[in-house]
Amino acid sequence: MQHPHPHPAVRLDRVSKRYAGAAADAYAVDGITLDIAQGEFFSLLGPSGCGKTTLLRMTGGFADPTAGSVLLDGEDVTGLPPDKRNVNTVFQSYALFDHLSLADNVAFGLKRKGIARAEIRRRVADMLDLVQLGHLPDRKPPTLSGGQRQRVALARALVNRPQVLLLDEPLAALDLKLRRQMQVELKQIQREVGITFVFVTHDQDEALTMSDRLAVMNEGRVEQCGTPEDVYERPTSGFVASFMGTSNLVAGTYRAGEVVPDEGGPALPVGPRSDVADGSRVSLSIRPEKIWLSDFEPGMAKLSGIVRETVYSGPTTTYFIELAPGVTVSVLEQNTIRSRMEDRWSGGEEVEIGWKPEHCLVLDRPAARLPGTDRRNTS
Ligand SMILES: Nc1ncnc2c1ncn2[C@@H]1O[C@H](COP(=O)(O)OP(=O)(O)OP(=O)(O)O)[C@@H](O)[C@H]1O
Ligand SMILES: [Mg+2]
Repeated sequence: MQHPHPHPAVRLDRVSKRYAGAAADAYAVDGITLDIAQGEFFSLLGPSGCGKTTLLRMTGGFADPTAGSVLLDGEDVTGLPPDKRNVNTVFQSYALFDHLSLADNVAFGLKRKGIARAEIRRRVADMLDLVQLGHLPDRKPPTLSGGQRQRVALARALVNRPQVLLLDEPLAALDLKLRRQMQVELKQIQREVGITFVFVTHDQDEALTMSDRLAVMNEGRVEQCGTPEDVYERPTSGFVASFMGTSNLVAGTYRAGEVVPDEGGPALPVGPRSDVADGSRVSLSIRPEKIWLSDFEPGMAKLSGIVRETVYSGPTTTYFIELAPGVTVSVLEQNTIRSRMEDRWSGGEEVEIGWKPEHCLVLDRPAARLPGTDRRNTS
């Protein structure tokens, strides 16, 4: 029996892009190979300028790769224009027709394809219902909110039933609350229609909550590709560890189950690592929510430090704790009903912290200072 989808929805094979006029070695996209499965919600995540839009434009046919090929459902489409690919794109600027009603905006592509009027009417109505705008078919885009306009743009792309939908930071213009709401709605819609989504964002939380898998990009390359849990819990580089949320990164040297920080101070227990040679330059990575401040359990490593700063942010409080001059870790605590404000530290107290060695990652690269990280200098 033949599998209904023997091919990945999108295959990028050693795709590179150097823009005309750029320096000989300045690649916006530098040899990316990636398979995106049928029906997958796949995100491209990375800092500004890392090549996300360029990669999406090459997938959609809006830019030609300098090298490599793009395959859609097994067919090589490299060099084909956008309208010859079974792909639709939702750009950050929604580009709606302001003088047309919502229904006519959504119907636009179908009319150009010469589809029968009754069918157009039915598909447009279904699509407006799907994005919860079925009650406003006659409104014009300028009278809508940002989130509603976003949903029209989505309906207009989905109504063509593309095999793949490319979305370039579609929620970036929305305020945080609307954005969170649209994230949930977008994900629901994707599940209902079963179309492959390739979603560009530079928002880590957004990529983690929405994606089946994601690729973390840096300087034109994919640093790591996997499920949200893979890249968050098991980052393979210091870049990914610090770009995906907040991580404590301490540069040092691995020796017999400990990392000796470059900055000095006590050795930090990480447990024995068979894959790391003694004397290797490493960076230790541990998430702020994986460090205990009380209720220690057996087998934990314990260290003492001084509370240097306390940051209250509603449901959580972050403590910055100095283990030695130049070695400060952040610790995140949930503000549960049990925690009492008067117990909180204000700074200067000597405290004990604990962690489980298995929660420490030992990465084989020195920690780099990166944009988007949340490390604070509390000296
Ligand atoms: N038309 C162009 N001509 C020359 N260089 C370009 C062009 N478009 C993008 N670049 C460069 O290519 C690199 C990647 O740009 P790209 O737009 O793909 O990044 P991005 O990851 O989408 O960033 P952002 O998050 O800011 O949208 C950048 O260095 C950018 O300056
Ligand atoms: Mg971009």
